[in-house]
Amino acid sequence: MINTHTHFDSLHSLYSDKIESFMLDMIDDTVTDERSILNDAIRHSLLNGGKRIRPLLVIASNCLFSDDIDAILPLACSLEIIHTYSLIHDDLPSMDNDDLRRGKPTCHVKFGDDIAILAGDTLNTLAFEILSTYLTSFSDKAVLTIIQMISKNMGISGLVGGQVLDIKSSNKELNIDHLNNLHQKKTGALIQLAITSPAYLHHADPLVIKELESFGSHLGLLFQIIDDILDVVGDKSMLGKSPGKDQVLNKLTYPGIMSLDACRDIANQEKNSALTNLNHLKNTYHYDTKELLAILNFTFDRSY
Ligand code: IPE
Ligand code: IPE
Ligand code: MG
Ligand code: MG
Ligand code: MG
Repeated sequence: MINTHTHFDSLHSLYSDKIESFMLDMIDDTVTDERSILNDAIRHSLLNGGKRIRPLLVIASNCLFSDDIDAILPLACSLEIIHTYSLIHDDLPSMDNDDLRRGKPTCHVKFGDDIAILAGDTLNTLAFEILSTYLTSFSDKAVLTIIQMISKNMGISGLVGGQVLDIKSSNKELNIDHLNNLHQKKTGALIQLAITSPAYLHHADPLVIKELESFGSHLGLLFQIIDDILDVVGDKSMLGKSPGKDQVLNKLTYPGIMSLDACRDIANQEKNSALTNLNHLKNTYHYDTKELLAILNFTFDRSY
């Protein structure tokens, strides 16, 4: 356990300063009128919080192809910015109604529902502005391809659609396929994109992309199963968010429909499938997968 955290922590400490400072630079602070409250809300929710799993996954995937971190940073940060918008909206009273996020009051608690909604909207468009402006080391065609992939997968067929399924489902529905589908969409889609988009930017072999897609799909589902488990067994100060909400809201979750041991078994199966993908990438295609492995292990063992 200590070991897997150590590997993740060293990835985090290697790259988090770059991630934080790029995102800080992207906030348009030339605005000085009433709109500056949007920037206050964005800084509050975006900066100095969160595990940064998605940008670290982008960097880890990029490491298979290149050691140029600065070139991929706009993609890494765009996905964290989209993730943060989704959290701000997820926490709203009309969604999960949470008042604690990343160890701080949620955006709407501090700035009001109106500004929180608009801060989320601003972050969502900012991500696409960054993607279309700063990925200058890659071909225009590849950049366009990933912008299409990201926009498609963040809409009705991915993240937002998954959030609708989440809101409209309850754990009385004991259908595991439905549960996996909603988890893959609301959480898995973005995690999978973090892993596959660098490969598209580097024009990777389609067989390699397929392996990464499969890895991303297992990791995405694993990530949300562990999130569901932590909602039951997690510690508020460790999590930086309030556990116990899924049961109160009667959400369709893994622990809602099976024992914690059964949830852990399925998480373990997903981890093993993801490991098989990494082994193929290593043994068949000779990629160094240690960064992706560190994040996979952390995702499985994490307590926050
Ligand atoms: C929480 O994501 C929301 C889910 C998609 C499960 P994270 O656990 O990555 O949250 P942060 O970014 O570290 O705050
Ligand atoms: C959040 O899932 C998924 C998205 C934000 C798209 P959850 O509602 O389970 O995330 P937490 O538990 O509030 O972080
Ligand atoms: Mg939710
Ligand atoms: Mg929530
Ligand atoms: Mg949750």
